[in-house]
Amino acid sequence: KEAFKDKFLIGAALNPAQFTEQNATQVTLIARHFNTITPENVMKWEKIHPAPDQFDFDLADRYVEFGEKLGLVVIGHTLIWHSQTPRWVFEDGKGSPASRDLLLARMSNHIHTVVSRYKGRVQGWDVVNEALNEDGSLRQSPWLKIIGEDYLVKAFEFARAADPKAELYYNDFSLENSAKRQGAIALIKKLKAAGVKVDGIGTQTHVRLQTPAIQDVEDTITAFGDLGLKVMVTELDVEMLPRRANSGTADISHREASSPELNPYAAGLPDSAQQELARRYGEIFAVFTKHADKIGRVTFWGVSDGDSWLNDWPIRGRTNYPLLFDRNNRPKPALDAVLNAARNAQ
Ligand code: XIL
Repeated sequence: KEAFKDKFLIGAALNPAQFTEQNATQVTLIARHFNTITPENVMKWEKIHPAPDQFDFDLADRYVEFGEKLGLVVIGHTLIWHSQTPRWVFEDGKGSPASRDLLLARMSNHIHTVVSRYKGRVQGWDVVNEALNEDGSLRQSPWLKIIGEDYLVKAFEFARAADPKAELYYNDFSLENSAKRQGAIALIKKLKAAGVKVDGIGTQTHVRLQTPAIQDVEDTITAFGDLGLKVMVTELDVEMLPRRANSGTADISHREASSPELNPYAAGLPDSAQQELARRYGEIFAVFTKHADKIGRVTFWGVSDGDSWLNDWPIRGRTNYPLLFDRNNRPKPALDAVLNAARNAQ
């Protein structure tokens, strides 16, 4: 955070062991390196609003209190998504799909209740997550099927009304894929035409060593910067393990069966792979610093390798190495590469 203090915020997604301070080593690490945080799961609908008349704010409150205690910029993730949302949300209580009016009323109640609770404390919200398909068309999610295209307009309107000062973002993965990026640009323009101001784009940036091409990472930042949006890199990590499906998807519904050859570094990461990771982080942060005027924040999806979702997705029980700190919370060569990118940009 010090190295990039004139450029953008540096963040991490946190889990409960971190923000309830059970993991003292990681609390020290968070305080030292990061100035913004995102909740990895505790603000998702299934956690914060598990049943129609039940909100469960315990962990979300602890998350926000932790951020305030350490003086961090606190981000909310995520209000409207098709994943990690209970089935009842989209049903009428008798097993049939909810009507448009019922679902809109639920959306309004959910957004107003959650956003109002943290008004003035959560600085920015991922309002809608992952509304697009890879070809740039709108995903046929229950939100779209039941409410229709204006569900996005409504979600942003409800969030704006609940906290007029909060920044509001549209968040998605694979925006480096130009078809999807064009879809996101069209979506932002449509929202604008409907009178909705989107403050920023959240580009998740779950990448791999070779893909997407660094030019596509750069084009993504400039395309949204040119639209006048703040670019938020919201979920950065670098996948180090092979997959069966040769796609860069970060769709959490995508799952693959395990097999030993798909977990090649269970006993440790060879030095050559460690250096590859450092090289990749170096080139990514060179692009980020080059376009620092467009970027508000760069958030990693986790603190240390051991916490990363990529140990269990899309294949459970693997040993992955996607972050800047190892399983013992020690800095990896990739951290030096990132710091070098900051120095080279001076
Ligand atoms: C992931 C979490 O990291 C996991 O713990 C959880 O089991 C599934 O979701 N895109 C997002 C994040 O927007 O919310 C997802 O987080 C990763 C992909």
